[in-house]
Parts: sequence; C-alpha cells; structure tokens
Amino acid sequence: MSFTKIDARILEKIRQAMGKDSVFTDAESLENYSHDETEDLRYQPEVVVKPSTSAEISALLKICNSHNIPVTPRGAGTGLSGAALPIFGGVSLSMEKFMKIIEVDTENLQATVEPGVITEEFINAVSAHGLLYPVDPSSKGSCFIGGNVAHGSGGPRVVKYGTIREYILNLEVVLATGEILWTGANTLKYASGYNLTQLMIGSEGTLAVITKIVTKLLPKPQNSVLMMGSFNTNEDACAAVSAIFKAGLNPSALEFMERKGVEWVIKFDDIKFDLKSGVEALLMIEFDGNDLDEIFKDCEKANQVLESFKCTEVLFADTAQQKEELWRMRRTMAESVKANSVYKEEDTVVPRAALPKLIKGIKETGAKYGFESVCYGHAGDGNLHVNIIKAGMSDEDWKHRLKHGIAEIFELTTKLGGTISGEHGIGLVQKEFMSIKYSPVHLNLMRGIKSVFDPNGILNPGKMIPDYN
Ligand code: LAC
Ligand code: ZN
Repeated sequence: MSFTKIDARILEKIRQAMGKDSVFTDAESLENYSHDETEDLRYQPEVVVKPSTSAEISALLKICNSHNIPVTPRGAGTGLSGAALPIFGGVSLSMEKFMKIIEVDTENLQATVEPGVITEEFINAVSAHGLLYPVDPSSKGSCFIGGNVAHGSGGPRVVKYGTIREYILNLEVVLATGEILWTGANTLKYASGYNLTQLMIGSEGTLAVITKIVTKLLPKPQNSVLMMGSFNTNEDACAAVSAIFKAGLNPSALEFMERKGVEWVIKFDDIKFDLKSGVEALLMIEFDGNDLDEIFKDCEKANQVLESFKCTEVLFADTAQQKEELWRMRRTMAESVKANSVYKEEDTVVPRAALPKLIKGIKETGAKYGFESVCYGHAGDGNLHVNIIKAGMSDEDWKHRLKHGIAEIFELTTKLGGTISGEHGIGLVQKEFMSIKYSPVHLNLMRGIKSVFDPNGILNPGKMIPDYN
C-alpha cells in the first residue's frame, strides 16, 4: 500500500487540530519515537503527535484518513513485538498525556482510567483502597495500561487471576474514521451482540485508538508466601509444573528460570542469590490469600510435589524484603538478557502439561541451527519466553538461517496445541510466522475485520496481519 507523505499543508492542518505544543518534528523527537524495546529495530515517524483528548484524536484521525497517512498508536514503548514502530513513517501517536485515573469506584469494584497511566501507578492507586488489579507485566514500572490492553497483556499472576481480558469491562475508542464510541457496558456480564471490547483487546492499535478503559477490580489478598525450587535439569522443573495443579493447588504465580538467565540477572542487577552449582533451573511459586495458615498448608503440599520431581532444594521467602529481591530477579531478566547480548525474543505458549516437550524441542532446534537460548517465563500458563542469543552465530546465519529455526519452534508450539505468542503480541516481528498457526481462511477473517474498522488501512499498518499492507 502506498501512503501519502506529510507535507507542509497537512502538517499545518494537524497543528491546527492539535495545538502546536502537541506536534513535534524535531530530530530528537523523531529519533526517540523510532524504537521500542524490540531488538535493535528503528523506524522514524514523520511527525510525533501527543494529544490530550479523544476529540483531538478524532480530529487527527479524520485528517490522516482523508489524506491516507499512516498512524501508529504508541504507549510507553516497552513492547517486545515491534507494534509501536512506525514502519511506514507517518504519525507516531503517543498516548503519554492520557495519564488520569478518572475514578476508582469502590461500590462496584471498578475503575475508569486513561490509557497513558503507568500500570504500577494504577495498581498502587487501587491498592490504597484495599483493591487488587492483578495484571502486572514485568515492565509494570514503565508500561502503560493502554499498551497492556492493546496487547492482551499477561504477567506472572495470570495463572491464578487470568490475563487483562478478564479485567476489561468497557473501552472508549476512536475509530480510524474519527467516530468516538464505547465498546460495551460497565457490567460483569455481556450477552448483547458481538463483544467489541474483547475484539479491541490484543488488536495492537490496528482497529481503533483506545482512549478510556473501565477495569474490574478485586479485593486485595492480605498475605503471600514465595517459594523457590531448584532442579538439576530444565525438563525436571518443567515436568513438576502441571503436577502442582493436579495436586489441587492454585498458585498466584508459577515462574520458570533457566540457569543462564539467573547468572546474567545476578550480574546485571546485583541480585543477592546463592545459585548453587549443578542447579540448571528454578521454579518460583507463590501462594496468596488472607489466611496465612492456609497459605503455609499450600506451600507444604507444593513442597511435597516438588520433592517427587527431583527438586534438590526449596527456599521459602516470607519477608517483604526477601520476596521483593526474588521478584526483582525474575522481573529484570528480560533487561539483563538484552544487556548481555544481541538477541531475539520469542513468546511461546502451549498447554502447560506440554512444557517438557516444548523446552526439549527448543533446545534441539537450537542445536540444529547453532543458536543458544535462555528460557524463562510463566510456566504455570505454559508460556516460555525464549531468548535466542546471537553469541557466535555469523551475521549471515542470524539474518537468514535463524528464521527457519524460529519457524520450527512455532511449528512445535502449534503441534502441541499452543500458539505463537502468549502475551507479547505479533506486531512486526512475529507477523511472518502467523501462517504457521492460522489457515488462509482464518487470516482472511482477520483481514475482513480490519477492513470494516479501518477501510483505508491507516491504523498501525504493516502489523499483525500478513499480506495486508
Ligand atoms: C517477562 C516479560 C518479558 O515475563 O514478559 O519478564
Ligand atoms: Zn512475560
């Protein structure tokens, strides 16, 4: 698809609609908005726009739609699939001025929030009312809740509480053609036609721009205990995962970390952790609730399961400080891998009992294609982040051969009943693998949905759906 370049006349129209303090074309802004956290990819927009109201976004989209100018919505730029990269230039639409928590409704246990609120600030704000918003991706300290919605985000607590899909009741969105609408109702039930709210979640800015979010909240559990089990092989650790649930336990987190990742994070983030020799993998298991005795009973039961799966040592963390340090170790793993090596991240997900087959297959594919990988992630969800390390791989193999190895990993996840991303999304970098999972009929349904919402294809073009624009 060919798009129009933004000339002086169109730029003036955008300035008039937005106010000149919200429109940026200086070299520094274009550079700052040319990348997110995805690998080392860079694509400069022609203009960066930072509106403050839905009405301004509506005016902007009307201009861009009538002139055929691409618009790439952007949250905090913490994404790992390249969804915020303006690959055709055009407008980078930053939501950073949408930073109000509009209401915390303690009668209905709901909140209304703007998309540019930092996730952790929102979690803390509702926590002050004794409430829980459990969607806390590792980047919670910097990501925006709007980006979380747009990507169907997860994080460590999904295993007990579900993904962001369980918490979004209603959204205000601006369509590509400029109309503003609410997608649903502020209710826990919705049987009133197609569910456009769920359609928007995970649509990665390709269908509409999210401008207000109504979330569900829960009462906040008062206590939690964290345990850390050590294993001599990855496969032993992965095999223990489904047994925890079969024992009737419902952990609030169940995370996996491979040794290499732990070594790097200890070095990068100065974490105090005694990683014993021979330990190849760790499982981090958390139980939360109000009754500490019940929590300890669950821990004891989990301990028995771990012992029966060749766990070599179990560590308990029940002080706030110990828990915080262990969570820091887990949450900064992505950054430490990035700091250590050129890498690519794949976000594999399978039904959890298939995890041992998944990790075995990943390592076999690595051996075949000559790449090392560091795996960690949300084992309780069957969701492993596979960080492929460039290390000694030649530039030629990295650029051309590796993608066949990645395709094999996705063929495996698909065969095991999983898919090609659990929580990071498709964006730019996974788009070429969509046809491994989805048939032409399925992809055509996605194309049809896209064309209904965005007839001129201006919203986040070149993302998610292969062979669209
Ligand atoms: C994590 C991010 C990378 O789990 O999803 O740390
Ligand atoms: Zn994750």
